Amino acid sequence: MVKDSKGRLAAGYQRHMFICGHERSTDANRPCCYTRDSLALMKRLKIAAKEEGLSNVRVQKSGCLDFCENGISCVVYPEGVWYTLTGEENIPALIEHLRSGTIAEHLRMNMED
Ligand code: FES
Repeated sequence: MVKDSKGRLAAGYQRHMFICGHERSTDANRPCCYTRDSLALMKRLKIAAKEEGLSNVRVQKSGCLDFCENGISCVVYPEGVWYTLTGEENIPALIEHLRSGTIAEHLRMNMED
């Protein structure tokens, strides 16, 4: 088996977090996560994960996850948990999810809101 440049023998991560970075024009019919500062939050979260020494996890930007009215949209695998993020105050709970798999119940996307 061939290792990649990081020495890995198999593809995948223990946890994989996607945060929507999609941007729409101001006259679009739906809101977008970009205007809620999703990319700034994603960058801060990546830094926090690195500072915490989390390995085998990945935090990355996604395109539109199609739950735009409930954004900032975020999904974490393998749990398949969907979150509505609001800002940097969410970072500790998200880091804990990445570390231990503990779901941040207070951040779950609630379609009834
Ligand atoms: S713009 Fe973020 S979910 Fe659609």
